[in-house]
Amino acid sequence: MGIQKGGCGKSTTTGILSYLLKENGYRVLAIDMDSQGNLTELLSETPSNEFMGRSVLEAMQQDNVEEYIVSINDNLDLLPANNFLATFPRWIYTGKTYQGENLPFQGNPSLILDQILEPVKDKYDFILIDTPPSLSEQTTNALCASEYVVVMFECSNWCYSAIPNFMDSIEGARTFGNKDTQVLGILRTMNDVRRSDAKAFNEMIEEDYPKEVFQTIITRKAPTGRLALYGFNENPEIRQALDQYRNFYKELIERVKGQ
Ligand SMILES: Nc1ncnc2c1ncn2[C@@H]1O[C@H](COP(=O)(O)OP(=O)(O)OP(=O)(O)O)[C@@H](O)[C@H]1O
Ligand SMILES: [Mg+2]
Repeated sequence: MGIQKGGCGKSTTTGILSYLLKENGYRVLAIDMDSQGNLTELLSETPSNEFMGRSVLEAMQQDNVEEYIVSINDNLDLLPANNFLATFPRWIYTGKTYQGENLPFQGNPSLILDQILEPVKDKYDFILIDTPPSLSEQTTNALCASEYVVVMFECSNWCYSAIPNFMDSIEGARTFGNKDTQVLGILRTMNDVRRSDAKAFNEMIEEDYPKEVFQTIITRKAPTGRLALYGFNENPEIRQALDQYRNFYKELIERVKGQ
């Protein structure tokens, strides 16, 4: 799930998709590649700082993913993140970890995540990766580790201008990585139905990318926003929070199965 623009619903969508896939019996690994740790907190209901020393960063540095996977429930696992993931590029280029160690990195800086997932990938039906709002090393690694990318489009001008560069980055991952990274689709998120400019951007993106856009449009809805507060367990409005994502879920499964 990605776009290098902030606040477009990436973490919310990754969390909801993980939940819906696991509810449908799929084995899911959710990976947080954003130092904000939002997906980590959403799924684990634990402050991301509690995963200090036990996160995706250390999994990449130690080349050992199994030790860092956290079980959320029967079919859902998490590879968490916290603020220290921000030191990932420093480690790649200087060998210095945030703990002051020197663990020189050798290899392709964009394929670290792809390579550490190799031993566990067959244990899961879906591996979902949440990415930060930048075209950073975390994003490059996520794209190179992915077969499919869902591009988030929040209906605004700045998100509209982010799309072409993001599409280029996906193309780069397909060319230079080991996966045949493809755009699975563009999801229009956080739509404000009262705004005519949002409606116009919805239509523009559909004209620009008629094959890519999902038909489902996710609207701004308080219970969906409040998932960040209530989480998935004992959430009194869980049905209202997830309702609008069910059609997107169906479209996504059809596209994955059809390809
Ligand atoms: N459909 C929605 N309706 C209302 N609020 C939403 C919706 N989707 C997400 N939100 C809220 O909007 C904010 C941004 O969403 P989210 O954190 O998922 O975006 P993001 O793209 O992951 O952001 P970032 O780029 O910072 O990682 C959050 O506070 C979230 O709870
Ligand atoms: Mg996020």
